[in-house]
Amino acid sequence: NTILSWQRTAFHFQPEKNWMNDPNGPLYYKGWYHFFYQYNPNAAVWGDIVWGHAVSKDLIHWLYLPFALVPDQWYDANGVWTGSATFLDDGSIVMLYTGSTDKFVQVQNLAYPEDLSDPLLLKWTKYPGNPVLVPPPGIGEKDFRDPTTAWKTSAGKWRITIGSKVNKTGISLIYDTTDFKTYEKHDTWLHQVPNTGMWECVDFYPVSKTKTKGLDTSVNGRDVKHIVKASMDDTRIDHYAIGTYYDSNATWVPDNPAIDVGVSTGLRYDYGKYYASKTFYDQNKGRRILWGWIGESDSEAADVQKGWSSVQGIPRTVVLDTKTKKTLVQWPIKEIESLRLTSKKFHMKVEPGTVVPVEVGPAAQLDIEAEFTIKKSDVDIIFGDDSVDTDKEFSCETSGGSTVRGALGPFGFSVLADQSLSEQTPVYFYVTKGKDSKLSGKDSKLSTFFCTDTSRSTKANDVVKPVYGSFVPVLKGEKLTMRIIIDHSIVEAFGQGGRTCISSRVYPTNAIYGATKLYLFNNAIDATVTASFKVWQMNSAFIHPFSADDLGV
Ligand code: FRU
Repeated sequence: NTILSWQRTAFHFQPEKNWMNDPNGPLYYKGWYHFFYQYNPNAAVWGDIVWGHAVSKDLIHWLYLPFALVPDQWYDANGVWTGSATFLDDGSIVMLYTGSTDKFVQVQNLAYPEDLSDPLLLKWTKYPGNPVLVPPPGIGEKDFRDPTTAWKTSAGKWRITIGSKVNKTGISLIYDTTDFKTYEKHDTWLHQVPNTGMWECVDFYPVSKTKTKGLDTSVNGRDVKHIVKASMDDTRIDHYAIGTYYDSNATWVPDNPAIDVGVSTGLRYDYGKYYASKTFYDQNKGRRILWGWIGESDSEAADVQKGWSSVQGIPRTVVLDTKTKKTLVQWPIKEIESLRLTSKKFHMKVEPGTVVPVEVGPAAQLDIEAEFTIKKSDVDIIFGDDSVDTDKEFSCETSGGSTVRGALGPFGFSVLADQSLSEQTPVYFYVTKGKDSKLSGKDSKLSTFFCTDTSRSTKANDVVKPVYGSFVPVLKGEKLTMRIIIDHSIVEAFGQGGRTCISSRVYPTNAIYGATKLYLFNNAIDATVTASFKVWQMNSAFIHPFSADDLGV
């Protein structure tokens, strides 16, 4: 089936076949980036989970290795589930992961590399004393999973957190340890938020308030804020919040309780399809890198037919927005730029109500960086005119998508489009008269939204096709900027340098192979927009099984 085979991505990490979900235990060791992942070797649907394993020199080109961990013990017989890596002071590595036992109880297990002199970390030993943690009193047997990377307490112990729930309150349990074999449980939680349900894949890490470099997980101090992220099992959203961590009582307090972890108005890493993410500190380049699982939006039947399901997002560097201190900023790792081939530069004025083709040749593998300005006199007129709708209720998700016209938007790109625009995925800004927002500074009289509308992305009818997006902070003097990475069935969009990110899965039936085109549009009623942008054709990455040749010997 030529439509289905076109959907496979060219430079996103995915296994050769079958099902993948969460990223697990990412780390950098002796010149290699290691990536582990939840993998079903037997089918394109979830089940029989093992740890797939791949290595890379640059986080772009990958070599698949033999499975790192498989269910071969009573304590992980029903699945080797999500876990995280910790580097000990002597440079050795411990891995904590959740096992689903022979009786489907969730327990935490310890594993470590058999041979630390092997840069590929091919063999993993399970600690004979496993499990090291079982569900504590008051916690459901199936509500205890996904241990984090450990960090150091001021007393020199290691500390981890594990997501759970009590009734409908999402919680994060805390344990201290010195040897990763025995643990002391705290009676209090790192954090809890009512009505958020089970917290999966909790992540906890420091970010610098002033510098744009990443911080190792144990770093703390006056210059540091801490992020708590949890993957909300009920809504399938990765929510984070920024706050302060107290080492002495192992608690964390959000800066703004109105946007606490997991509340519906709270922050998300990504407003599209993005889940079960995990960061790690890359000691090689001094940055914190975020991996996220991007599942399918088509049907399970389609996945079975195409023989695979899910990709991983392009790894992103993640830092606090040192300008606003109110969001994180995420940006595709620099290394992705090594796939850029030929580029074309454009400078175009787009009148209200126009769509223009962008001549870039085939448009299935692209990287776009764009800057937009709205003609100032148009903005001024609109501000002088009280009859212009103030768009108080605007939201990407519920305001009708890119065909609904406002005074100052929408404008942006239609990607993965065919000639007749019968299929297209618009990625756009929608600007409204300023209204108070939890994230907009006092300095802007406009409110800007960044959206992706997948509702016309395919003629196929077994696909979920939402309009995604959110408010994006735009500071005084900033132009509107977006970056879009397109790779067959995935579109990753980054607004304002990565303050708001949107990943979508799209499945065109006409806009495929040579018929895939790129358009620029301005669907505003009153505003003329100027777009300056650069478009690169993107090469494919080498992602294939490891062979001896790959060692260069
Ligand atoms: C999140 C998750 C984790 C669990 C794993 C099982 O997607 O449900 O909580 O450990 O996947 O594959």
